[in-house]
Amino acid sequence: MVNVFITCLAACLLHMLHSAPNSISWCYHKASCSDIVWHIIAEKDRNGTQQSPIDIVTTDVHTNTTLTPFTFTGYNEDATLTEITNTGTTIQVTLDHKKMHVEGGGLPGLFASTQFHFHWGNGSATPGSGHSVNGKRYSMELHIVSKAEHNGSLPNDSILAAFGFFIEASNDTGKPESWKLLMSYLTEIASAGDKTRVSDKLTMDDLLSGVDRTKYYRYLGSLTTPNCDEGVIWTIFKDPIKVSQDLIDLFTTTVYINKNSNSPLMTNTFRGVQPINGRIVRSPIVGTKITGLLMPTSPTTTTAILKLTSTTKTTAILKPTSTTKTTAILKPTSTTKTTAILKPTSTTFSSVSL
Ligand SMILES: *[C@@H]1O[C@H](CO)[C@@H](O)[C@H](O)[C@H]1NC(C)=O
Ligand SMILES: *[C@@H]1O[C@H](CO)[C@@H](O)[C@H](O)[C@H]1NC(C)=O
Ligand SMILES: *[C@@H]1O[C@H](CO)[C@@H](O)[C@H](O)[C@H]1NC(C)=O
Ligand SMILES: *[C@@H]1O[C@H](CO)[C@@H](O)[C@H](O)[C@H]1NC(C)=O
Ligand SMILES: *[C@@H]1O[C@H](CO)[C@@H](O)[C@H](O)[C@H]1NC(C)=O
Ligand SMILES: *[C@@H]1O[C@H](CO)[C@@H](O)[C@H](O)[C@H]1NC(C)=O
Repeated sequence: MVNVFITCLAACLLHMLHSAPNSISWCYHKASCSDIVWHIIAEKDRNGTQQSPIDIVTTDVHTNTTLTPFTFTGYNEDATLTEITNTGTTIQVTLDHKKMHVEGGGLPGLFASTQFHFHWGNGSATPGSGHSVNGKRYSMELHIVSKAEHNGSLPNDSILAAFGFFIEASNDTGKPESWKLLMSYLTEIASAGDKTRVSDKLTMDDLLSGVDRTKYYRYLGSLTTPNCDEGVIWTIFKDPIKVSQDLIDLFTTTVYINKNSNSPLMTNTFRGVQPINGRIVRSPIVGTKITGLLMPTSPTTTTAILKLTSTTKTTAILKPTSTTKTTAILKPTSTTKTTAILKPTSTTFSSVSL
């Protein structure tokens, strides 16, 4: 009896070890399988130093002119969104990767878009984006996953490019029309494993409306779900897609994480922000960084507006010329500067906002 138990224990342990990388059961909703323990179940994540998502601190972002505009091919064609699936951890839409490509934007070659999926919180009022900007999180985040096409020196499929779009709740109802259409499929895929064809005329461009795709952040990171593999080229677009709160709320009221009748609803489907570990976030957006000698323009008022007087210095020391000021509002007037280190030298200078 005891022997049988021990044999089983050993066999089971062995089985667990061997099957761990392929049969990971991770989750969002329980401490025993949520991102708290992903570093144990996801081997690649264990020692990772380039993990995603991250908080983008805009004052640390480097302007980089190699980040040209993108070319999106097939994003304006309908019948490219083929199937919508409840995976048990997200809602995922399969794309026709033969028609949908992305290049430019400093990417190493041509990338075929294979799917997009969502991350969300618990309703439109609860932030559910993984990435954040200066600590600000959005209601949801949409990720388009693209794989490198075989191209000379590039190995097949080994390079992934992920495109992240923030989703901000608007006070409208049923808007935009494209999202209303896509969300209408959710009732058909309420349980984990359910899938259905997307038959309506709907393009990727329709879903990404309102986003200026020349404004983005670029950094190297990982998948945001196990195995959290690194080597993912991340692009996070600055502008959010505005979607009405009723449509966002459908995510947390319509789809379930398994097939049981008592299945929990799918909520809080995002990973927390990961350490930046010295990585540099780049952007083609000019003016994300600031440089110059800062001089208060008025020595007498209690609020001073500081104007950059030089565009050539890389470090600025902030010296208030009056001891009566209590607040400084820093306003860069040039878009060509790259860095500002603010060092108030007076203790009466109680607040500096950038
Ligand atoms: C991961 O890091 C731990 C220590 O933090 C080390 O013992 C282990 O060998 C590392 N594993 C790999 C695969 O590098
Ligand atoms: C721009 O980014 C590339 C890497 O993508 C880097 O090699 C280059 O040094 C950057 N240029 C500047 C001015 O930071
Ligand atoms: C292959 O990569 C090169 C260099 O990155 C790029 O210029 C070219 O357009 C790519 N070709 C295809 C078919 O993606
Ligand atoms: C989500 O929100 C609903 C309604 O506000 C609440 O009943 C539920 O407990 C919340 N779920 C989680 C996981 O926070
Ligand atoms: C790329 O894929 C093709 C076709 O599947 C295969 O023949 C080739 O060996 C692959 N190349 C690499 C570098 O993996
Ligand atoms: C949306 O409505 C709420 C109250 O219903 C209001 O507080 C908020 O300012 C509105 N937001 C916008 C963007 O109009």
